Amino acid sequence: MNPYLLLLCHLWLLSLTPLLLASVSTQGTSSLACWYDSRAAIFCDWTPGRDLADAPCQLEISSKLPFFARSLFSPEKYKEHCELLKAEHTTELRRCIKTFSKNSNSQSFTTADRLNMSVHCRLGENGSTPARLEDFSPLANIKLRPPGNLQLVNKAKNSYNLSWSLNISSHYLDGERQYQVRYRTTSQSWEKHPGQFCQLL
Ligand SMILES: *[C@@H]1O[C@H](CO)[C@@H](O)[C@H](O)[C@H]1NC(C)=O
Ligand SMILES: *[C@@H]1O[C@H](CO)[C@@H](O)[C@H](O)[C@H]1NC(C)=O
Ligand SMILES: *[C@@H]1O[C@H](CO)[C@@H](O)[C@H](O)[C@H]1NC(C)=O
Ligand SMILES: *[C@@H]1O[C@H](CO)[C@@H](O)[C@H](O)[C@H]1NC(C)=O
Repeated sequence: MNPYLLLLCHLWLLSLTPLLLASVSTQGTSSLACWYDSRAAIFCDWTPGRDLADAPCQLEISSKLPFFARSLFSPEKYKEHCELLKAEHTTELRRCIKTFSKNSNSQSFTTADRLNMSVHCRLGENGSTPARLEDFSPLANIKLRPPGNLQLVNKAKNSYNLSWSLNISSHYLDGERQYQVRYRTTSQSWEKHPGQFCQLL
């Protein structure tokens, strides 16, 4: 193979619908930030103060509309909880991922959903609510999962077929997804060469 062939590719997925552009930044001013993967999962990052880096804390997610029933016979639920993991050493973030369905590609939220999120911690005998996020609209705060199964196949001299798959993504985004491919030759480094970009629709 020619050493200048493009062997390394990174792929970004941008969700740039007009609807979503209005709130690319996350809602709320607290240190709690949440995103929706557009299907069944919401994930949140919280920056705790030093005192709460290791405290047992959980995120409470409440909704006016009932959450999708997990099974036909379970009662409707308006509150869900998600355990916040201990702070990561490098980022000092505490995260949690809540999936609202066993099938990670089922549509758990629509544009009508508004959620309140709050962090609850226990320190000794006392509880505290150090962060909250109100009126969170999942559909306005989408961060898609990265594409997978990236393959680069040499078709002819200097011609490649690049393919990938996207397992988890809402039908609401059909026709709206944009992809960006960043590539470099193997003899270059990302540090010295930011790479070249091309937009794919
Ligand atoms: C969210 O919080 C606001 C303000 O505290 C409250 O008015 C509203 O009822 C809450 N909604 C839910 C679903 O808990
Ligand atoms: C719990 O709260 C009480 C009353 O505010 C306070 O006196 C006590 O020191 C607190 N305990 C802890 C472990 O923070
Ligand atoms: C490129 O690869 C994909 C996945 O292997 C395949 O479906 C597609 O037909 C290929 N396209 C061309 C032009 O060969
Ligand atoms: C995506 O789906 C394919 C085929 O169903 C599966 O093999 C693969 O593990 C899935 N990838 C992810 C990231 O879930």
